[in-house]
Amino acid sequence: MTTLNINGQPRAVDLDPDTPVLWALRDSLGLTGTKFGCGAGLCGACTVHVDGQAVRSCITPIASAEGKRITTVEAATSGADKVGAAVKAAWIKHDVAQCGYCQSGQIMTATAFLKSLPKGKRPSAAEIDAAMAGNICRCGTYARIRAAVADAAQ
Ligand code: FES
Repeated sequence: MTTLNINGQPRAVDLDPDTPVLWALRDSLGLTGTKFGCGAGLCGACTVHVDGQAVRSCITPIASAEGKRITTVEAATSGADKVGAAVKAAWIKHDVAQCGYCQSGQIMTATAFLKSLPKGKRPSAAEIDAAMAGNICRCGTYARIRAAVADAAQ
């Protein structure tokens, strides 16, 4: 049995310690906001926060996440997190989603990025693109993603 700290709650999962966090979230805990894309750490669809850092849950074994704070898109966009709420609002305002599949990972990467900035810092377009480069959108909504992240930074 592995106990994970998910969105501030201890959640026990009876899984092999090598099981990726992604599958613990989706299959054992019903937190399906975190998406499976490539399963190989390449697309960013599965991004969650582990101790505040954007992490790819498809290649993060539950054993390595035990004792750390895991935050999923459900909590990040619930309204309790100011930055997450700003990103969500900007996402809606800029109509970012096309198919929408990548957006929870995009939002989690954007939220971690914005939280990493010094207070009052407005990221440049190039800084946003660099921060978001690991999250692939097959619909190609990168201009809207950039605009939403810039807006959320204000
Ligand atoms: Fe994890 Fe693609 S599903 S990076």
